[in-house]
Amino acid sequence: MNLCVVGVGYVGLVAATCLAESGNDVVAVDSDAGKIERLQAGEIPIFEPGLLELVGRNLREGRLRFSTGLAEAVPSAEVIFIAVGTPPDPNGAADLSAVFAVADEIGRRLSGYKLVVLKSTVPVGTAEKVETIIRESAGEGAPEFEVASNPEFMKEGAAIDDFMRPDRVVVGVASDRAAAILRELYAPFVRTEKPILVMDRRSAEMTKYVSNAMLAAKISFINEMANLCEHLDADINAVRRGIGFDSRIGFQFLFPGIGYGGSCFPKDVDALIRLGTEHNYQARILAAVQAVNADQKRALVDKVRGHFQNRLQGKTLALWGLAFKPQTDDMREAPAQEILRELLALGARFRVHDPVAMAEAKKLFGESLTYCDNPYQALEGASALLIATEWNEFRRPNFSRIKELLLEPVIFDGRNLYEPEVMARWGFTYYSIGRKPVNEP
Ligand SMILES: NC(=O)c1ccc[n+]([C@@H]2O[C@H](COP(=O)([O-])OP(=O)(O)OC[C@H]3O[C@@H](n4cnc5c(N)ncnc54)[C@H](O)[C@@H]3O)[C@@H](O)[C@H]2O)c1
Repeated sequence: MNLCVVGVGYVGLVAATCLAESGNDVVAVDSDAGKIERLQAGEIPIFEPGLLELVGRNLREGRLRFSTGLAEAVPSAEVIFIAVGTPPDPNGAADLSAVFAVADEIGRRLSGYKLVVLKSTVPVGTAEKVETIIRESAGEGAPEFEVASNPEFMKEGAAIDDFMRPDRVVVGVASDRAAAILRELYAPFVRTEKPILVMDRRSAEMTKYVSNAMLAAKISFINEMANLCEHLDADINAVRRGIGFDSRIGFQFLFPGIGYGGSCFPKDVDALIRLGTEHNYQARILAAVQAVNADQKRALVDKVRGHFQNRLQGKTLALWGLAFKPQTDDMREAPAQEILRELLALGARFRVHDPVAMAEAKKLFGESLTYCDNPYQALEGASALLIATEWNEFRRPNFSRIKELLLEPVIFDGRNLYEPEVMARWGFTYYSIGRKPVNEP
């Protein structure tokens, strides 16, 4: 099939590449000329495991092309995916200006039947609005077109695998014709009998928000339980195991930590709250999920302040992990940002390391941090180690080296990577989430 994907960010680039990999001819369009130039040269503007090779192969084999203009892509495309950003506006609602601008342009370039597919995460009712915009800009006598919703559930860091082998594909349509096109397009990705769930467009749009809200709620729930454990002198890890073996509960997404971040959960939960208020409904659980998360991002800050009795002026600290989660360089809404801002403001200095997010951190923090090429370098002359991202390479470090390099053997672990008994044996003062501190002074 001839396809066009508009918006070549995380979602658009992965979708365009995987759709090309399954044999389609794909033109990927973005308004950012610099980004398109880099992509045309085979450079990838984001860190996503496996993506570089896949983009390279599909470029070489001519199934994937990059362009800055819809003019060349729309006429030949049978299906046009809209995957532009939908960032929060100042009120927390989704800013749909990019989606609407693309819809308007598609309308002006319609020629023959097109299926326009909304892949961006958009509020319930957006497919209908996009349909109206396209109809109005196409004018009288315009060719037939349809708008479908096809929310994306990929995870950054595992995006290719998620797209190639999704748990399910959700498709919201207004006709059998649109459903048939999307079934054909996704057939190569669901050969292991994973379902393509066809529903109305509003329900498909809602499914994406509910999915992210549920995952965010699980995180805030276990974090709240961890905080209670700290007050009640119980161990959240024992509790987590105690509940997880109940098949109604399970283990996934129930790891205590320093809160969720990234470009999706915070903005999507906000947008869903906002959709409720627009319809005079107060989503109380969602508001609590966000409030717990906002506090949780400060959990390590409070422990650091307590340990050093607020005397942080001129103190050097090491931070491992900058990205909002492992396997990505994305620092949007990352807990590390909050930790750095608050403790820098109290006069602390930071030596930081992240396997891939250092360039992102430089954009945000410039010269105010010392960037270290490896985790151990970050420890030199530091009074404590803080851990904000659960990268695999931080799970089994050389503790004797850590102890040697730190000025004081103190670790603040925001991701519960280590066992308290092991830390006690090594003689560390060890703070984690929802568990008793070890060797607290
Ligand atoms: N990142 C994720 O993990 C993820 C997962 C599922 C869904 N989503 C949703 O997918 C959408 C895209 O997210 P993303 O993370 O890929 O965003 P992104 O910010 O990485 O990319 C968006 C791209 O759209 C381009 N763009 C903006 N306006 C444009 C226009 N008028 N014409 C052409 N290109 C334009 C930007 O230049 C940018 O390259 C959002 O709605 C997001 O909520 C994201």
